[in-house]
Amino acid sequence: MNIAVRCLLGLFAVGGVLSAQAQPPSDTTAMAAAAPAPASAAAPSAAAREASKAVRRGARLATFGGCHDCHTPKVMTPQGPQPDKARLLAGYSAQAQLPAVPQGVIGPAQWGALATNDLTGWVGPWGTSFAANLTPDATGLAAWTAEQFIQTMRTGKHLGAGRAILPPMPWFDVAVLSDEDLKALFAYLRSVKPISNEVPQPIPPK
Ligand code: HEC
Repeated sequence: MNIAVRCLLGLFAVGGVLSAQAQPPSDTTAMAAAAPAPASAAAPSAAAREASKAVRRGARLATFGGCHDCHTPKVMTPQGPQPDKARLLAGYSAQAQLPAVPQGVIGPAQWGALATNDLTGWVGPWGTSFAANLTPDATGLAAWTAEQFIQTMRTGKHLGAGRAILPPMPWFDVAVLSDEDLKALFAYLRSVKPISNEVPQPIPPK
């Protein structure tokens, strides 16, 4: 199942590469890397330099890990859907209208899953899942600690102890990262603009 999803996202990524030739600044990593530059004219402290290095590394890991593919809403362009830079990692939009799901389309010998146009909403044998708001807003991950993020990715359970995280969230792929890399990834999530967006709870299968 997840292989199929990654292939689908691969197609997306190809679109992104093709369009990148026409539109160089479509790289979310570059944007994120620019964000944490120290404001003061004085030389940044060693700690500040380490922190901004971690954020830049986390931004690359997020791009490589496809976090934006599912967690960032898209804007439609002539080159196809592109990440909405104004709402990086805001998750499935609370205002979105979920299209009706045709009955009998998903099954062992049929389609594995359906996704909304922007890949933030998913329907499969597990029901309907909505990509979480990963921004440091109260409706996102503001209350999470790095340790809780690491435990969530390692166990596949909400905050390491709650409900099982549903597909297509590839937590088991993220879990192969070291603690240091996961901390860098979390530092990057902390660095993006907080967006107020209350993502709906998943809907169990009928
Ligand atoms: C193929 C789509 C997809 C990709 C790629 C993806 N996610 Fe998710 N993610 C989801 C969905 C859907 C959910 C909601 C799952 C649920 O409600 O159980 C989710 C949930 C989450 C959650 C919330 C878990 C919780 O306990 O509330 C976190 C944190 C998260 N993803 C982080 C990431 C990070 C970091 C990346 C990149 C390394 C990433 N995701 C890549 C689809 C994806």
